[in-house]
Amino acid sequence: MKALITGANKGIGFAIAKILGKSGIEILVGARSENRGQEAVKKLSVQGITASFVKIDLNNFDTIHNAAKEIDQLDLLVNNAGIPDSHKADRPDLDQKKATFDYTTDDLRETMKVNFFGTYEMIRSFLPKLAENGKIVNITIPIQPNNFWHPLAYQTSKAAQNVMAMTYALEFKNTGSSKQIFGVMPGGVATDLNGHATGALGALNGFIKSAEEAGELIAKLALDTENHNGQMIQFDGKIVTDYEVQLH
Ligand SMILES: NC(=O)c1ccc[n+]([C@@H]2O[C@H](COP(=O)([O-])OP(=O)(O)OC[C@H]3O[C@@H](n4cnc5c(N)ncnc54)[C@H](OP(=O)(O)O)[C@@H]3O)[C@@H](O)[C@H]2O)c1
Repeated sequence: MKALITGANKGIGFAIAKILGKSGIEILVGARSENRGQEAVKKLSVQGITASFVKIDLNNFDTIHNAAKEIDQLDLLVNNAGIPDSHKADRPDLDQKKATFDYTTDDLRETMKVNFFGTYEMIRSFLPKLAENGKIVNITIPIQPNNFWHPLAYQTSKAAQNVMAMTYALEFKNTGSSKQIFGVMPGGVATDLNGHATGALGALNGFIKSAEEAGELIAKLALDTENHNGQMIQFDGKIVTDYEVQLH
């Protein structure tokens, strides 16, 4: 089996690569930086995992198209790469305190470009390479805003990504395809994306997971024999029905 994981050089993506790799799956480490990607390949290889680097920059579709040309068949595509909001050089943490009304259209566009358009281009480009029973797994978040946490650009981009995934799921179902696409919501995970949950997120005792714990959950769902097509699965195994596409 062969799996391509985007953003696999660190965080949750690296953890998924490690766990899937240890179960004998050949790992394609998707990363936008060759240095960071090759570093990750080295770390996986010393653990006996078969891994190689594939340049994937979700802001540069040429890298996606070139990668798709090079890969003959995939069993698993994990769309993990993502950004929290538009990048701010001086921001140490996910911009949890940014006021909704302060977001500019450019903030939304920057986040949307990676999380939505980039992920869409990955799915579109690799679908022809996906094995008959192949799976696409998107790493995502709940989109219902709440008073504790509602970063506008991040949630909006993931909402679009989730709807896109569910629409593909419906099409798989309607065309009798045995391919699957589903989302996994690992909940709060301490990574660079949120400054390792040192902000308000860190106060949520027991809720914040390590990247390894999130990776275990995602790898388990990616490898089980159930049909998850059209599901959005939460960290506790609950299927979030607000997202569930009506397959019948
Ligand atoms: N952490 C959480 O609490 C949490 C919760 C739910 C869902 N998620 C989702 O999990 C995924 C991974 O996040 P993480 O927490 O592991 O964050 P992370 O440690 O910041 O890792 C993000 C990964 O995405 C890559 N990336 C960013 N922009 C990219 C681009 N334009 N093209 C290709 N790769 C790009 C990064 O590459 P560089 O190293 O080159 O920057 C890095 O490998 C994201 O989609 C996130 O939304 C995270």
